[in-house]
Amino acid sequence: MNFCKYKEIIEEGDTVILYLGFNNMHAITVKTGETFQTRYGALRHSDLIGIKFGDKVQCPKGYLITLHPTPELWTVNLPHRTQILYTTDISLVTMQLDLRPGSIVVESGTGSGSLSHAIIRSIMPIGHLYTFEFHSQRAALAEQEFQIHGISQYVTVAHRDVCSDGFGIENVADAVFLDLPCPWVALPSAKKALKQQVSDILGAIIGILEHSRLLVHQDIHVCWNSFGTFCTFGLVKGHLGLFGIEFTFLRKIVFLFSMHRTSTKNM
Ligand SMILES: C[S@@+](CC[C@H](N)C(=O)[O-])C[C@H]1O[C@@H](n2cnc3c(N)ncnc32)[C@H](O)[C@@H]1O
Repeated sequence: MNFCKYKEIIEEGDTVILYLGFNNMHAITVKTGETFQTRYGALRHSDLIGIKFGDKVQCPKGYLITLHPTPELWTVNLPHRTQILYTTDISLVTMQLDLRPGSIVVESGTGSGSLSHAIIRSIMPIGHLYTFEFHSQRAALAEQEFQIHGISQYVTVAHRDVCSDGFGIENVADAVFLDLPCPWVALPSAKKALKQQVSDILGAIIGILEHSRLLVHQDIHVCWNSFGTFCTFGLVKGHLGLFGIEFTFLRKIVFLFSMHRTSTKNM
């Protein structure tokens, strides 16, 4: 299967999202002979082979729906190996990095691959993602998932510490995104990874994610996004200054997440 291109019929080895309810979904890889236990009873994987994505499947105590995977559904169903980026943040990152089909993107760390799947969908079929992860098992598992999901041709996974060893690539990327504990350490090398004209003329684009929701931009040499409760402009400026990164402009974007409640009223 190709995770990012819709297909109709479920086959052996496909990833299927089993939808039992809005808060009850599971991602499985179909393997003949295996059984998956749901709230509505057991489901034999072989019962899925040959039916359509979107079909209803009757289980002993209720039914489920077989959804085709998307990056958004994968984000809420993937096996967590780390903290991950969710779709609200991913949509902002994708927009700020100006991703489009054909973009070449550098990302670190790969983590659980949540952001990677979304990046790949945005840049395919002619773009490429270079993703770097210093935890060997996480790097290997992400590579395996990209293979199973049929998107490995759009991504290169490297097992590497980008803070100590850099990215090892120069003048290739349209955008860089860092989701690391100390992203500023990797900034000089991230800047090298950017295409020269991107870094010098367009002033784009390095995103940094920390653990808060402060989004910072700089528009001469580097732009970056930073989401960190403890990350103030001063701190970011200080760190950048320390590594000789120039900037002229900082922009902060704060997400205001609001729930809309609907109710019926008689007037
Ligand atoms: C928060 S997770 C990234 C989650 C990812 N954005 C996602 O959406 O699934 C941070 C990852 O960065 C990796 N990491 C931390 N320091 C690193 C470094 N110096 N070089 C490469 N990877 C690093 C960690 O092992 C971890 O897997």
